[in-house]
Amino acid sequence: MHTVIAVLPGDGIGPEVIRQAVRVLDAVAERFGHSFSYIEALIGGAAVDATGDPIPKPTLDVCRNSSAILLGAVGGPQWDNIKVTARPEQGLLRLRRELGLYANVRPVMVHPSLIDHAPLRPELLADVDMVVVRELTRGIYFGEKTEGTNHASDTCSYTAAEVERITRFACDIAVSRGGRITSVDKANVLATSRLWRATVEGIVRTEYPQIELDHLLVDAAAMHLIQDPSRFDVLLTENMFGDILSDESSVLAGSMGMLPSASIGADGAGLFEPIHGSAPDLAGQNIANPYASILSAAMLLELSLGLERESRIVYASVDAAIARGARTPDLVSEGGVVATTREVGDAVVESISRCNESAGYQPLQRSL
Ligand code: IPM
Ligand code: MG
Repeated sequence: MHTVIAVLPGDGIGPEVIRQAVRVLDAVAERFGHSFSYIEALIGGAAVDATGDPIPKPTLDVCRNSSAILLGAVGGPQWDNIKVTARPEQGLLRLRRELGLYANVRPVMVHPSLIDHAPLRPELLADVDMVVVRELTRGIYFGEKTEGTNHASDTCSYTAAEVERITRFACDIAVSRGGRITSVDKANVLATSRLWRATVEGIVRTEYPQIELDHLLVDAAAMHLIQDPSRFDVLLTENMFGDILSDESSVLAGSMGMLPSASIGADGAGLFEPIHGSAPDLAGQNIANPYASILSAAMLLELSLGLERESRIVYASVDAAIARGARTPDLVSEGGVVATTREVGDAVVESISRCNESAGYQPLQRSL
């Protein structure tokens, strides 16, 4: 099998962390006799500097013609003052929108040997196993906007059909794991949230009666995530709430640098990226945490290429590498031994060749 993967490193730490994810994919290809080739393309600030456009047409073409897309991160202070449509983030938003990647899946995994590293008490974290399902191509991100010096507005809009499709997506995930969905909205204030709640309720009651559904207002959800995170199984929410709550959830995992994501479209297209940003302050120093990108590559293997066993080997290898102490500074408490970005990649690659898939840390496989 020969597979073409689009690789969009982007800005800041993006190129460094993606390099390690590609090395891991190569190690998988070698062990299992696959042939992956990569087409690198420009996105974000790097694309703005080269072409003036944060998502040039050749990049979109490469993405459309590949089996999957692996992306680093976009943005940085040097592009803060350029015109809105040329901001690096617009490249990512247009890519998601043009490929119709409406379902964003962000599994929250707490690695056993990082429990003590997270700022929450260990007993709160022991049973955390959740997936954030975020609607990704509508809502306030994409509604009509006006922008002046004295007045600006952003419109949040959803149709029932848009809520229905993300609800079905979340239900399919919930059925394959704990069978529970917590839908998060602000139905006491927002009209879109009232439509959201009624639509989610309708789909679950009629099509997935076996699912246990509850609703939380987003402010309360933000509190419960910290106070009692193990109560969540699938957290289903709209675009902006999902953006905010997934960063909050990453605290449970001990670092922003641990959480991967998959963005999936109706036609099966898949974009895989860490949830973290471009971290310009860490860029170029070989200190960024590549685990979120490596885990995104594991999601890519499973969800876009259908290579479940290979994906399990990557999870197991990450598990082994963390357990053996391959930790970038964000994962090390004071006085601990620090590994570089590249050394973390080395540790995972080394495990790929000999790891068996029965190691413990495989929550995504159970989820999707
Ligand atoms: C994310 C990021 C993006 C978002 C930014 C970079 C546009 O924060 O993927 O969570 O807001 O969706
Ligand atoms: Mg975000």
